[in-house]
Amino acid sequence: MSGGFGIKEYLDVGEIYRRIGELLAQPIRPVKREEMARYIERFNEKYASSKPVIETARQYIPGGVQHNLAFNYPYPVVFDRAEGAYLYDKDGNRHIDFLQAGGPTVLGSNYPAVKKKILELINTTGPSTGLFHEYELKIAKFICDRLPGVDMFRMLGSGTEGCMAAIRVARLATGKKHIIKMGGGYHGWSDSLVYALRVPGTGGFDAHGIPRASRKYTREAFPNDIRSLERVLRRNKLTGRGTAAVIVEPMGTESGTRPVDRDHNKQIRELCDQYGALLIFDEVVTAFRIGISGAQGYFGVKPDLTVFGKVVAGGYPAAGGLGGSRDLMEYLAAGLQTGKKRAMVGGTLAANPLSAAAGYYTLLEIEKQNACEKAGAAGDRLTRGLQEMIREMNLPYVAYNQGSICHLETTGTMFIPINMKRFWTIPKTLKEIKERKHMMEEMGAAYMVEGIVTLAGSRMYTSMADTDWVIDEALEGFRKVFEKM
Ligand SMILES: Cc1ncc(COP(=O)(O)O)c(C=O)c1O
Repeated sequence: MSGGFGIKEYLDVGEIYRRIGELLAQPIRPVKREEMARYIERFNEKYASSKPVIETARQYIPGGVQHNLAFNYPYPVVFDRAEGAYLYDKDGNRHIDFLQAGGPTVLGSNYPAVKKKILELINTTGPSTGLFHEYELKIAKFICDRLPGVDMFRMLGSGTEGCMAAIRVARLATGKKHIIKMGGGYHGWSDSLVYALRVPGTGGFDAHGIPRASRKYTREAFPNDIRSLERVLRRNKLTGRGTAAVIVEPMGTESGTRPVDRDHNKQIRELCDQYGALLIFDEVVTAFRIGISGAQGYFGVKPDLTVFGKVVAGGYPAAGGLGGSRDLMEYLAAGLQTGKKRAMVGGTLAANPLSAAAGYYTLLEIEKQNACEKAGAAGDRLTRGLQEMIREMNLPYVAYNQGSICHLETTGTMFIPINMKRFWTIPKTLKEIKERKHMMEEMGAAYMVEGIVTLAGSRMYTSMADTDWVIDEALEGFRKVFEKM
């Protein structure tokens, strides 16, 4: 199971959970205090031009930045050039880019062949018309021809919108109400899915500003625990309202931070069939990154509905969509009528020519260049390098990857269980989470000073642009940080 896929060898899931358990059992091992103070000094020197911009931005933008992934500690850095494997900031410093805008750029940033097509398009159509452009058909056909669970595709503005559309279709098609997600998973920020974010078992803990009623029919099961899912399905059945759909990230919650057993998705498929629930794969991260046929192609499991985002527009704006079987997708008909009740979706800029063309040419290039495999090989090299370093230096950290999605757990923050029933323990747990989260921020700042941009100091996406040379340079940077622990 390797042809065209970024994953060569499936990870040893039990071993990862065991090692993360060991990491959590120990006190945190941050960068030595004097070394961290030196890193902050170096940060201030290196990013001298960013600081005043961010200080002004704080007056006009809540928190000073518009994007949740922006690097916030000690303050965000202003980047103004992206090229292949590298990002350049306002002071001209070059960084290896393992954030990759949160995942869309499997080809590397600002890939020239795609950019050329987009510039041509802007010169002819401009970014949007609100009317049909042939690129809508081209990208839809490309996706339908390659993903086993997709007969039809509707392009939307974001992954959040794709997830909203998926659950709306599922409820309409099944006549049932409940949606089950895996605890800790992120499926965008819609009212009903801001539920049990990051840490399993936390239900509506993070749902500030969202009425309880919006999540009345949202349930969580424990990730990678098929019995927990069955329990929730059974309970929903007993209420008489049943389960409309189970929504999962097929590689595991939070982009595989909590990986799943190799046959887990197959078991979920079987349970869904048994309980008459639809299976939604949220492939916002995995589609066209794990392989051109997505995680569904890799696992050989056909979902009823598939949510797209990120790579589907190649890093260009408005990246989202929903795909699925013809009978389900017809509920989303926007133009030619199908005689079915309609699940309302929309978006002024949905499927604009720019997003459709950017996605289409990106996917063509990913396939032509075998980019998923190349990005996956870079992820393997990075992870193996980190694992060796961790072993050699006798550090408690855990590095693992699923192809080009790499995880470096130095704190295990997302694995700290919050026991909502023993509410008196919550403040102590939150204190520990805060400490571990701060260490992650420090790690991210230290990596940055050493020329590496990560996602929240714990996740790295690799791309086709990450040659062996780039990865080895990054490993040198990680080594410099690890030597100061
Ligand atoms: C698995 C998953 N689903 C949905 C989303 C939401 O997508 P978007 O940010 O495009 O709304 C994300 C975003 O990171 C995601 O990782």
